[in-house]
Amino acid sequence: MRVLIVGGGGREHAIAWKLKQSPRISQLFCAPGNAGIAELAACVPIKATDLDALVRFARSETIDLVFVAPDDPLALGLVDRLETAGIRAFGPRSHAAVLESSKAFAKDLMRRYRIPTADYQVFDDVKAALAHVAGAELPLVVKADGLALGKGVVIAHEREEARAAVTDMMVNSRFGQAGQKLVIESFLSGPELTLLAFTDGRTIHPMVTSRDHKRACDNDQGLNTGGMGAVAPGADLDENAWRQLRETILQPTVDAMRAEGRPFKGVLYFGLMLTQDGPKVIEYNARFGDPEAQVVLPLLETDLLDIIEAILDERLDQLEIRWKSGAACCVVAASGGYPAAYQTGYPILGLDKVPSDCLVFHAGTRREGDAVLTSGGRVLGVTALGRTVEEAVGRAYRALDVISFKDMHARRDIGRRP
Ligand code: AMP
Ligand code: GLY
Repeated sequence: MRVLIVGGGGREHAIAWKLKQSPRISQLFCAPGNAGIAELAACVPIKATDLDALVRFARSETIDLVFVAPDDPLALGLVDRLETAGIRAFGPRSHAAVLESSKAFAKDLMRRYRIPTADYQVFDDVKAALAHVAGAELPLVVKADGLALGKGVVIAHEREEARAAVTDMMVNSRFGQAGQKLVIESFLSGPELTLLAFTDGRTIHPMVTSRDHKRACDNDQGLNTGGMGAVAPGADLDENAWRQLRETILQPTVDAMRAEGRPFKGVLYFGLMLTQDGPKVIEYNARFGDPEAQVVLPLLETDLLDIIEAILDERLDQLEIRWKSGAACCVVAASGGYPAAYQTGYPILGLDKVPSDCLVFHAGTRREGDAVLTSGGRVLGVTALGRTVEEAVGRAYRALDVISFKDMHARRDIGRRP
């Protein structure tokens, strides 16, 4: 089977690493990929958002299956386009990916189907939004409706901050079209948890839980990033907690999407907060999280291709998915300055000294001759397994410490609870 992965970050490297172990895959391609993925797959320089070129490439290379990993091409309808061209594609169609690409859609769905989430209102008029902010209880959470690279959320403890966030998004168009509509919601507190799940639109199989660290610096200081590291499992849930999650959130979400005529097939990401009143949904994503994929996929025992095919054929109820026991930790090595301005093009040293039982997933890297150079904000995801989270964390840091590049920045507290 000839498989194309769309994307080029740490998540896509982890997907490529896992799919490479499938005996039924004869050739792996990745668009655009990176220097690490190039060791496993033929990388083609097509952007993940260039739908025309991707469909053309899949056709001309007689690709049997396309794995669409990032949010943008899913929202833009790459899966729809491939299906129309007669090419099998893994990921939700755009009318289901809207669960991530419109927060207003997601919130309204949760309200209609009584899925627990923070109270909220949706605004597309700046005056009404500011009037709401003037009277609402603080803290307030202001969210751009559309995709904003994980940066479209402001938690305002002061009224002035909330007002500034509304103005910035709606008047100054900080996130362009994505911020012309806003969700303003109440503030929840409790531990956060990522729950990824495979679903064929009817059956839902949760993966091992995970937890990412979004802020740039230790002790959750600094700006929000795409994620500076992750561990799995992310929480120790007992049978009761799992049942509650299944009954109040997981199955109701899948059933709601089907009832709306938008069956969701693919990987569904539940960003959860475990509040005093039970688990609540903070956000949905329509794909694997990054870096969460880098800790969850190494713990997956079952062949990922078997799972993908069961989802496409809508027979996930007949598949048993097995997980390794133990834990995983991923520490992200980022370019100094990320997520604000940073320099790239620096040689990465020490990759050949990483212990062989650790995995280095590449995110922003490119090869130039014999050298691997930095080429993005998040550069590497250094991942290790262990019997416990503590053991995995220790191993990941030992591996990270043999790697260096100019201005490299990593958090030192991945795995620790805030
Ligand atoms: P999101 O992009 O929706 O995941 O939001 C980014 C981060 O903002 C989340 O991971 C939470 O830490 C925080 N957050 C979002 N919504 C809320 C809320 N209603 N209450 C408290 N924190 C929130
Ligand atoms: N790590 C959060 C995300 O992938 O959206």
